[in-house]
Amino acid sequence: MKFTRLTSGVVLAATVIGLGASVAGAQETLRGLAEERGRYVGSILNSQWFSGGLPGNYEETQKREFNAVVCENEMKFDATEPSQNNFNFNNGDRMVKYAKQNGMRARGHALAWHSQVPNWVNSHKNKQELLGILKNHIEKTVGHFKGQIDEWDVVNEAVNDNDPHDWRATATNSRPGSVWFDNIGAEFLDSAFVWTHRVDPDAELCYNDYNLEQGIGEGSKAGFVLKQVKRWKEMGIPITCVGSQTHVEDTTTAPEFNGAAENLRAFAKELAKLGVKLNITELDIGIKSGMPVDAAALARQGHFYRQFMDVFLEEPNMGEFVIWGVSDKWSWLGGLNRQAGLIFNDNLQKKPAYDSLIASLKAHAPETVFNPYKDDFTKLDSIAKADSIAKADSVAKAVADSIAKANPVVEDTSKQIEPIAPADSTEVLLSRAYGVFGVKVSGRTLNISGDASAKVQVFDMQGRPVFSDKAVKGSVSLATVPNGIYMVRVTSGTSSLVRRIALK
Ligand code: G3I
Repeated sequence: MKFTRLTSGVVLAATVIGLGASVAGAQETLRGLAEERGRYVGSILNSQWFSGGLPGNYEETQKREFNAVVCENEMKFDATEPSQNNFNFNNGDRMVKYAKQNGMRARGHALAWHSQVPNWVNSHKNKQELLGILKNHIEKTVGHFKGQIDEWDVVNEAVNDNDPHDWRATATNSRPGSVWFDNIGAEFLDSAFVWTHRVDPDAELCYNDYNLEQGIGEGSKAGFVLKQVKRWKEMGIPITCVGSQTHVEDTTTAPEFNGAAENLRAFAKELAKLGVKLNITELDIGIKSGMPVDAAALARQGHFYRQFMDVFLEEPNMGEFVIWGVSDKWSWLGGLNRQAGLIFNDNLQKKPAYDSLIASLKAHAPETVFNPYKDDFTKLDSIAKADSIAKADSVAKAVADSIAKANPVVEDTSKQIEPIAPADSTEVLLSRAYGVFGVKVSGRTLNISGDASAKVQVFDMQGRPVFSDKAVKGSVSLATVPNGIYMVRVTSGTSSLVRRIALK
């Protein structure tokens, strides 16, 4: 029986209605292959579906190919609470009924977003009033759908588009501000997660944003989100997933040189260490308006789609691969000067991108794909190892703190021959215990003994990175780091250690 990875509800729905390729002998579909691998592939239900403006083969395609679904616009604030405390859940109810009937995972999009909020909200400026409005909206909406929405986009697009990134604040000419951040401050995000969790503790809770596929390096949007997720986890804020919208443009660049999919892989790995999933929530790969949508472009687009699916299947903490539309005919992409970004054409015929996704799924045998809804990905060896490094860091920090408090010359309990210098000295001897390399600060230079090349990271006492060099041999200058107390982490091969240093 191929249904072992599915919930019984899904099995029942698929069996009763006879949908999906998982039914023995049925045609191969994205949904069938994804279900065999314990994963979800989804799409929106377009707004035109709710107004009855779509042909029958739209719905037929949607439920044949996808096992996850999300409303395009119908569960946003302006649709669900058009006037204060008057709620309209009719379309949301239709979506969850459809999801249930067809054995699909249901996403709720979106609770706290600066866009598509009704004017009555925007007219408020008082912090306490707006906190009350957001709390009421979340409690009523999440309460209404309790147990029927598997996952909420609790906060959507709250990071600005600048570099370096920060929370989206006051409006600019090109971008709107956020009524929530402008009047409440960053605590609107923390509160939104807490309120949602209180009402529906079983739902997964995501932070969702765009441009997260652009890398996690210094100054990046994903890097900023990562820091916030770390902070939320430390504070006990109940976030379980990040949604990468992934609205990307197909260019003439060969997809393998674009790097977007690999950027998501790196992001997924960092989130895995925090016990958080990464989902692809709004994928489309549009071809720039005016460019030919010819065979070469469609093949390239397919290759691009495949890379996202490959990464999705290979990373254990990725659960959903959701495409922002079914057919190019009803896609929002025109508004972005892009075209033909989906996997079915105007006539709902499969495009090369569809075949690429099927090929990727088939290339990843079910037993090689991790099911993050069934098993705990934080227990996996690679992640546990990274986690143990993080734990070792915190132990090292605690030790360093106690050394700092005591302040005498401390005798190391390890095999170390020489004592560790006082913590406030500029000479800090590291790592004898590890027998791999020694580290000493003299003036503003960090000297590393040994032949191996080492990765050096310096963090301030709040854990914020202030310096990093991935290949240090001999010594490295910390001249750019201001005076102060820091933690330095040196990694070489499989050895890594953390110590406290003082720069004066
Ligand atoms: O509700 C009005 C309706 O009263 C009016 O008759 C009609 C006339 O054009 O417009 C309707 O509003 C439109 C709305 O969709 C509902 O159909 C807006 O003009 C239109 O701008 C809006 O676009 C949506 C867009 O979000 C708004 O931000 C797109 O359909 C929707 O695909 C898009 O989805 C977003 C995600 O929520 C978040 N991530 C980005 C993604 C793409 O922009």
